Amino acid sequence: MPKDPTNHKGGQRNLHIKVKTAKGRKASSTRWLQRQLNDPYVQRAHQEGFRSRAAYKIEEIDDKYKLITPTSTIIDLGAAPGGWLQIAKKRAPKGTIIGLDLLEIEPIDGVTTLQCDFTSDEGYAMLKDAIGDKKADLVISDMAPSSCGHAATDHLRIMAMCEMAFDFAKETLKPGGHFVAKVLQGGAEAQLLGQMKQQFSTVKHMKPHSSRKESSETYVVAMSLK
Ligand SMILES: C[S@@+](CC[C@H](N)C(=O)[O-])C[C@H]1O[C@@H](n2cnc3c(N)ncnc32)[C@H](O)[C@@H]1O
Repeated sequence: MPKDPTNHKGGQRNLHIKVKTAKGRKASSTRWLQRQLNDPYVQRAHQEGFRSRAAYKIEEIDDKYKLITPTSTIIDLGAAPGGWLQIAKKRAPKGTIIGLDLLEIEPIDGVTTLQCDFTSDEGYAMLKDAIGDKKADLVISDMAPSSCGHAATDHLRIMAMCEMAFDFAKETLKPGGHFVAKVLQGGAEAQLLGQMKQQFSTVKHMKPHSSRKESSETYVVAMSLK
């Protein structure tokens, strides 16, 4: 039996679906559709009721580093459509979970969601307001600015976002808390990485199996805020 490439424990693999070109549809859209339909993580997310294939990325990161406990307070930055929030809620059923995004997030039972721009003063204030006096156990950020197509500019923009999320994590986390953020291949920039290593006991990079090989994204996992 062919192995299921998403669970590494064996199982049936689905058949390859070929998408025909259609009048009015761009070749790039046909390629995207074909990739989506044949992506085993998209299929698995659909079957298991997750809103995005991204859910498996935080699941893999947490399986490896054990960041979430049943009572964790978790802040998810760039949370739409909500796959990471679903995993957070599943693994921290008695915890407090807050997710924020520029886009609207369909409600999830027991999860607070905010629609705002994390980089704006208003968005930041809304988030701080929702957290109140609480301190977080875990700040996770899958935020990515929309690509402008110029690799160097995209890199600067995603790193600026990671730096803002890091600043937020430093002031929001409890001592011993953890921070996970999307960065680009090559990892966090040396200077930012140096700052993280000063603030956290352990800093690792991880590219989950569920992150597409052709994507330059990877994740920085900073554990145990000093
Ligand atoms: C890859 S998606 C997140 C997927 C999510 N982790 C999940 O599991 O469903 C990245 C998200 O970052 C959000 N984003 C980008 N810039 C943002 C900003 N300035 N403030 C809030 N969210 C932002 C985008 O709207 C997008 O929904």
